[in-house]
Amino acid sequence: MSEQTITVTLTNQPKQKPESSKLEFGKIFTDHMFMMDYSVEQGWHNAQILPYQPIALDPASVIFHYGQTVFEGLKAYLTNEGKVLLFRPDKNMERLNKSNDRLCIPEIDEAFALTALNQLINIDKDWIPSGEGTSLYIRPFIISTQPYLGVAASTSYKFMIILSPVGSYYKEGVKPVKIFVENEFVRAVAGGTGSAKTAGNYAASLKAQQIAAEKGYSQVLWLDGVEKKYIEEVGAMNVFFKINGEIVTPLLTGSILEGVTRRSIIELLKHWNMPVTERKITVEEIFKAHKNGELEEAFGTGTAAVISPIGELFWNENVIVLNNGETGELSKKLYDTITNIQNGKEEDPFGWTVEV
Ligand code: COI
Repeated sequence: MSEQTITVTLTNQPKQKPESSKLEFGKIFTDHMFMMDYSVEQGWHNAQILPYQPIALDPASVIFHYGQTVFEGLKAYLTNEGKVLLFRPDKNMERLNKSNDRLCIPEIDEAFALTALNQLINIDKDWIPSGEGTSLYIRPFIISTQPYLGVAASTSYKFMIILSPVGSYYKEGVKPVKIFVENEFVRAVAGGTGSAKTAGNYAASLKAQQIAAEKGYSQVLWLDGVEKKYIEEVGAMNVFFKINGEIVTPLLTGSILEGVTRRSIIELLKHWNMPVTERKITVEEIFKAHKNGELEEAFGTGTAAVISPIGELFWNENVIVLNNGETGELSKKLYDTITNIQNGKEEDPFGWTVEV
């Protein structure tokens, strides 16, 4: 598959680029996109980069009825020297294939997907914003396109990559967010699709998210789907807590997304010789630690969210304010280090960044 060529058609109607300072998350798209098809007879074929545009699909396509789809999220950064960097893009393609496997979608050639991504970014390079906290968000995704109403894996697919210049994921920017610990609805259970990046997990989160938003909370913190006792993730990010000097994050038990930023933060903390543990954490333990004055900080990690400090937690009608609602020292240090590595402002001792 790697020998495939990519047909390129450039737009003759380039769009106006947005102002860096006004960027929100995921609302504006660049001039081009990548697309390739899968059929049983031909495998993955017809790789093309073409002007960004709507696509036509049969209304009976499997994606619309049974949600057989996967996606990824990564970012491209423009350095002060004008270089374009990607952050661990191989990890995203690897995870895309793990999600494919769970959703019965044919495997993609990771090396070819990275070649296609590089070519697409080079074409839309001028869309990468340069303002503080901005980047080019990359959304690879695969949809099932066979027109068939029976519940079965589709026999045809489209793999696409679209690009969006973005600012902060949360309207709070890098300020602490308020998080609602969800007691009624659950996101995923072990054995389900929680560790795959698939649309259904996000659709399942909307109801709780809406209720939390009505109460003034930015996001929902999910508990395990069986006992509603153990902390899982926030949906758009993994979570970490600093308790009495130790940094803890939920163990990946099968229902939590294995975040690339999560993994990088664990590696960074270990590199700094800081105690970091992946283990099961109850929400009760967090509230108790706060009561005893031992809960020093909490923060979320994700490609979109980067490092997002948590300023307040609501659980069972109880509210705790962390670190006086301010960004903690560790969250700040992690945010600065990871964004400096991503933007090429700081040396990357791990070899995480890759030049496009
Ligand atoms: C990301 O962090 O890239 C994600 O995919 C989270 C998303 C739901 C915005």
